[in-house]
Amino acid sequence: MSQDIESILNMDWDIEHKPYQAKAIKLANGKTMVIREAKKEEAPILLESIRPLQLYHKDYYDIVSSRMYAEILGWYVNRVRNEFVLIGVVDGELAGIVNNRLMNNKICMSFHTMALMRGIRAGAHLFAAKQENAIENYGVDEIYVTAESPIGFHRWMEEWALELRPEIQHELGGVTTWSLTKENYYKQKSKLVFGSRPVPQDLLESTYNLKPIVPQLLRQKSEDED
Ligand SMILES: CC(C)(COP(=O)(O)OP(=O)(O)OC[C@H]1O[C@@H](n2cnc3c(N)ncnc32)[C@H](O)[C@@H]1OP(=O)(O)O)[C@@H](O)C(=O)NCCC(=O)NCCS
Repeated sequence: MSQDIESILNMDWDIEHKPYQAKAIKLANGKTMVIREAKKEEAPILLESIRPLQLYHKDYYDIVSSRMYAEILGWYVNRVRNEFVLIGVVDGELAGIVNNRLMNNKICMSFHTMALMRGIRAGAHLFAAKQENAIENYGVDEIYVTAESPIGFHRWMEEWALELRPEIQHELGGVTTWSLTKENYYKQKSKLVFGSRPVPQDLLESTYNLKPIVPQLLRQKSEDED
């Protein structure tokens, strides 16, 4: 009986899941960030790394990490439809996390972007990568984007010149929605979407030994306070 109920509640992909091809981005500080799709079995590591940020009341990390925690947990226990999670890894350490949810083959809901290392545009590159995945890999026509923070607004609405869609409520609480259309994506691509493929095998492998971490930005914070 309980197994029958689980088969009703269990939710994963109902459209074809298309793996994201990893890429490597040379950052302004000279380091390389690999962006690749997270594996479901890595979810506990991501959750443990996100959790301390729920109490970090700066730049809206608290609300974004709380929502992202629930979304990644939902993905892990199969309670979300068509969600993908990408991670950025620098020197074997998590630099940031992004996730999106495909409503169907044509429309994507942009979920969250969080930089765990700051000052290297990890978040900006990861946001670009998840939209690249939605548009170039899955072929959606449009992505609905919102922002919880002024930095997010600056990064997404302004840098990407997104179009306001007041008639649409975003899935994240019904807040104001902007749209990244396929047309606009290709217009902005050369200045915002970076990375080279394939990622050298040894570099890619160095990203598969992730450990739960205290995010670099919290370590920075306690150093700043010392
Ligand atoms: C929004 C976000 C993903 C952008 O990530 P990013 O592109 O890697 O950018 P950073 O966060 O490193 O830097 C953004 C701005 O913060 C400032 N900044 C950089 N390092 C910082 C630090 N260590 N502490 C405080 N501010 C910093 C800079 O002014 C920078 O602006 P600029 O590069 O445009 O001049 C990231 O700020 C974040 O995760 N914020 C919290 C969650 C959030 O708001 N997510 C988006 C929801 S809409």
